Amino acid sequence: KTVEWDAEEFERGAHEHFMVKEIHEQPEAVQRVIRGRLDERFHAVHLGGLNMDAREAREIKRVKILGCGSAYYAGQLGAQFIEEVARIPADAEPASEFRYRNPVVERDTLYVAVSQSGETLDTLVAVQELKRKGGRVIGLVNAVGSSIAREVDGGVYLHAGPEVSVASTKALTNMAVGFAMLGIHLGRIRDVSPADGRRLIEGLKKIPAQIQAIVDTEQELAEIAGRLSRHESLFFVGRTRGYPVAREGAQKLKEISYRHAEAYQTSELKHGPLALISPDVPTVAIVPDDELLDRNIGALHEIAARSGPLYVVTHPGVEIPDGVAAVIEVPKNEPELDPILLTIPLQLLAYHASVALGHDVDKPRNLAKSVTVE
Ligand code: G6P
Repeated sequence: KTVEWDAEEFERGAHEHFMVKEIHEQPEAVQRVIRGRLDERFHAVHLGGLNMDAREAREIKRVKILGCGSAYYAGQLGAQFIEEVARIPADAEPASEFRYRNPVVERDTLYVAVSQSGETLDTLVAVQELKRKGGRVIGLVNAVGSSIAREVDGGVYLHAGPEVSVASTKALTNMAVGFAMLGIHLGRIRDVSPADGRRLIEGLKKIPAQIQAIVDTEQELAEIAGRLSRHESLFFVGRTRGYPVAREGAQKLKEISYRHAEAYQTSELKHGPLALISPDVPTVAIVPDDELLDRNIGALHEIAARSGPLYVVTHPGVEIPDGVAAVIEVPKNEPELDPILLTIPLQLLAYHASVALGHDVDKPRNLAKSVTVE
């Protein structure tokens, strides 16, 4: 036991917890997942491990992404990207639900299993059921040679490196980048122009330095997290591309700070949750500088009018109404890639909220790093 603990301490290096170490490792992790895969000549992406030629890839009519927990939220980000960029209808579903509902398996659907460990039982069984019914399944998996990686027809390894903290950070980021690469790959075989391919590839290349810039603001985020952590219950809101960001942000806070956090589409606020907004219930709002900015700003006014404290995650240059509790600025990338960066400050908010409340960050109660049993 003692030896194990020493080894852990050694691996954590200068960091107090694995989670924060892994947050800091993200710029390198993203470099590793994109390395050798970006084709600057054709403004395309090479994913040799997919085992799928261009003709087969053209025949895909739908993409269905399956994963659990944070991998499912990464899948939602991925589905949004693939549908928007490659124009293939795409959605994500928890593998834990899919496996039990006798789903219709279609031959021209590409099924994608996404998993850090490659050992999550619900995801593995979903893959096995799909294979048994003749579905084509690829994997976005971090752990090389894991059960899911061995079961799928092909896939993309995420190369995030070993992740120890139960709360997934660098693996989740690499999943999102992996989905972006898959979307560009499928898109460039179809109707994405070389110019758009170039724009997105240039965007991908900027991500590591932009993550670093966010991580460099950690002190500020820690201070904000300290204030946020005093509330028992919080909302996270975002719309379209920002909604999976909000869901993942709420998930992280729940997992490690044990605060009640609920994610909503910003557009749905007026259809229910607005009733709960009060000075005791703050909202973390994802407000990217995109085509829905005016509507998002409108929602901030609605929340402020009910005296709800606002923590706004946004881009430089966006005019946020006065009087909000905090404004967190994230470097701007291409609109389709922005969600990847918008998740990063939420990791640090959850981490520092957990630290401020004195919880065991890396080993939250009732949770396991990978759930390999029924
Ligand atoms: C568990 C962990 C989560 C993780 C999920 C999926 O529930 O607590 O943090 O996101 O499993 O794990 P996977 O290894 O399949 O990505």
